[in-house]
Amino acid sequence: MGNNLKKMRILAIDTSCDETAAAVTENTKVLSNIIWSQASAHAKFGGVMPSLAQRMHEERIDWVINKAIRDSGLLWINIQAIAVTQGPGLAIALGVGINKAKQLAEQYRLPILPINHIEGHLLSAMAAGKKTKDRPEKVTFPAFGLVISGGHTELVLMEHIGKYRIIAKTSDDALGEALDKAARMLGLGYPGGAVLEGMAELGDAKKFNLPLPMSRRENAGIWSYSGLKTAFYRMIEGMDLEKNNDKKQIYDLAASFQNRAFQHLTRICESQCEREMSNYPIRHLLVGGGVAANMELRRRLRQMANRLGLKVSFPYSKKLVGDNAAMIGVAADMNCDMGNHDLTVVQNVDRKPRWNIEELK
Ligand code: KG4
Ligand code: ZN
Repeated sequence: MGNNLKKMRILAIDTSCDETAAAVTENTKVLSNIIWSQASAHAKFGGVMPSLAQRMHEERIDWVINKAIRDSGLLWINIQAIAVTQGPGLAIALGVGINKAKQLAEQYRLPILPINHIEGHLLSAMAAGKKTKDRPEKVTFPAFGLVISGGHTELVLMEHIGKYRIIAKTSDDALGEALDKAARMLGLGYPGGAVLEGMAELGDAKKFNLPLPMSRRENAGIWSYSGLKTAFYRMIEGMDLEKNNDKKQIYDLAASFQNRAFQHLTRICESQCEREMSNYPIRHLLVGGGVAANMELRRRLRQMANRLGLKVSFPYSKKLVGDNAAMIGVAADMNCDMGNHDLTVVQNVDRKPRWNIEELK
């Protein structure tokens, strides 16, 4: 935010997957950030059920929005725009948030700011909290952005707000998805990334020798977790984990899988960043997405950034790493600042389930 005098207050909504989320932001400051997670309802299916997600968003959205307004300490008359996730995500889930945004925009005569969910994750580390300690470091562009979530693994060269180029991505599973699948193979439930982290902390990563994915496409900036997953499946196939109830073995398996998955992530990140840094004066790496909650991964990304001479930023709160609407409000504010949005028009917003970050305009 360049201008401290201007206060842009936004109600933001995100219903892209299985979190019903609403937030109020003031410039890049988060005033409230309400997240209603449906994860436990989807757990028995081992993944997100779109029709269930849609129904649960519909049931919860008013409650979440009202609470976001109430907790912000503001009134509707203080809100200047409604930001909503337009994509990517589950089509029928996105539709719930977009319809609600349209209804509220009409009711309160406010403009709608359609936002890309991945851009939200990319900018989440720039959100500020109410406390002084929760202020992010100043970021200069161009910068690198890394999104690691259940649906996306993307390393992005952020030329400026609104202009992004993907420099590495996955050809199969996203990192979070791979961790979730490994967790499921170990019987740890869904989504299992955080549980796997807890187990891995107690285990020995050298106990089981899993292959490091050495995809020939590594130089092209392509991650692939399928080989690692298959190797992991084969490795545990012959072990009767439940019968033996051998906790130590599960800890070691979790640590071994996580170790390889993270090595693969940082190797490609490092080589791609290094390559781009010979052409661009880049100083900063912003990290977002659910897997950015992982402390071991943060440690490794910090080490990597040190080697490259980059500063690395994570969101100030765990509520900003997974899916949330505050990041959508922050992205909307930054786009308005850049003149990328016209605040005088109520736009005709339609969902974009496959919206690529490189095609924002
Ligand atoms: O960003 P997010 O909430 O939703 C998507 O947009 O996908 O990310 C969810 C992913 C899941 O795969 C989950 O297992 C993973 O983030 N995750 C973690 C941790 N917390 C959540 N992975 C590793 N360590 C964690 N602590
Ligand atoms: Zn997400």
